[in-house]
Amino acid sequence: MTNLTSLSRRGFLSGAAALGGAVLLPTPSEAGATIDLSIGSSWAQLLPPPRPATPVWAYDSALPGPELRFRQGERLQLRARNHLDRPTSIHWHGLRVPNAMDGVAHLTQPPIGPGEDFLYEFDLLDAGTYWYHPHMGGAEQLGRGLAGALIVEEDTPIRVDRDLVWMLQDWRLERGGEVAPGFDSAHDAMHGGRIGSHVTLNGRPAPRIEVVPNERLRIRIVNAATARVLALDFGSLAPVVVALDGQPVAPHAPEGGVVLVGPGMRADIVLDATGEPGAAMTVRDLFRSGDAYDVATLAHGDTPLRARAPDWDMALAPNPLSEPDLAGAVRHDIVFNGGMMGQMMMGDEAPAMIEQMRQGRMWFVNGRASDGHDGPPLIAAEHGSSHVLRLENRTGWWHPIHLHGHVFRVMSRDGRPTAHREWRDTVLMAPEERVEIAFQADNPGDWMLHCHVLAHQSAGMAALIRVA
Ligand code: C2O
Ligand code: CU
Repeated sequence: MTNLTSLSRRGFLSGAAALGGAVLLPTPSEAGATIDLSIGSSWAQLLPPPRPATPVWAYDSALPGPELRFRQGERLQLRARNHLDRPTSIHWHGLRVPNAMDGVAHLTQPPIGPGEDFLYEFDLLDAGTYWYHPHMGGAEQLGRGLAGALIVEEDTPIRVDRDLVWMLQDWRLERGGEVAPGFDSAHDAMHGGRIGSHVTLNGRPAPRIEVVPNERLRIRIVNAATARVLALDFGSLAPVVVALDGQPVAPHAPEGGVVLVGPGMRADIVLDATGEPGAAMTVRDLFRSGDAYDVATLAHGDTPLRARAPDWDMALAPNPLSEPDLAGAVRHDIVFNGGMMGQMMMGDEAPAMIEQMRQGRMWFVNGRASDGHDGPPLIAAEHGSSHVLRLENRTGWWHPIHLHGHVFRVMSRDGRPTAHREWRDTVLMAPEERVEIAFQADNPGDWMLHCHVLAHQSAGMAALIRVA
């Protein structure tokens, strides 16, 4: 038993391998070993050389941070040491962790001050694609580079030739390569957040990725941008979505042909490299149609791996999640308001919102701008009870709404049942859209519900859900 555990335990990649991004070389580490992770400043070549390198903030000096890779059921033990000149924390996005390990500074733990460290320790209940990032300091700490992938492998993974992680980050860079200041820009906060000038894949701008004709890839796409929604188009290649936010979903072609991933969200796709030998195929972001750009090029080698794409099964085994009891669920109406061209001048809550806007808050959850730590909880849920949240986006903007400590089913959009009732930890709402989600409050503690456009979050688009 012990031997099996230690054999299957995976450590994390070296920074260099993570930087290269193409080859996964998990290094076995002993069961119970504590990983050390440093948080500090570093440099990264985000612009194509010979343009200057960029000073960034990074985990273990690597950008993106080291890929943490475990097996389902293992225990993560990680000591984070802060070498920055300001406090930070680490949130394990999408993982169902005990509340004290959730990494929300001032809510679930004190901030990790400069020179201090903090031990994170929890069991990995669910397999899938997750990520880690600071939960402190608004958009700045992520916008300067702090983000890494956390992969939990299934006991029986689906068969693929290679398993790749694509960490997508969005940077607002100045001419000299520096990250532009102004993370608290009111203009960004009122609009779609801090949209950058450069998108990188595993820290590189539009990299060329070598593939072998007819090989099968599993690509774990992580949108670690602070504001940018991605709609990835694979040209004549046909991605199949097999997991969303780490949770298995019935394998399906993405709706509208593009893989839509909002900030904070993930999509695992199976992609057969079916291009002709020698073909160079681009992956493009089509979210802003007038402003499409290349995210990567898939360069097909000359010698096919096999005569045609394989027909191996793509269905992943589900995680042990608690199914919400829809018949007995408590129902809640949650209205998001604010921003430019919002509709908050209507209704009883208008005067209160206008008063909060005078104090610089711009986004509201049921009429209240909050940092998600203060005041009474939006929802006080009894441990084990089920909840249906009817989310209504009364704004002209997209919002990826993230719930901590739980995953939920996406039940309907604008009154129409969703095709897959997918499990998610973050749901993307289009302007004016209504989305119904359902979950069982099975994890006690104070949890945040917030927009993952971080400039929206820090301008009030956050709330507290208390499970007790
Ligand atoms: Cu990815 Cu509250 O965060
Ligand atoms: Cu938002």
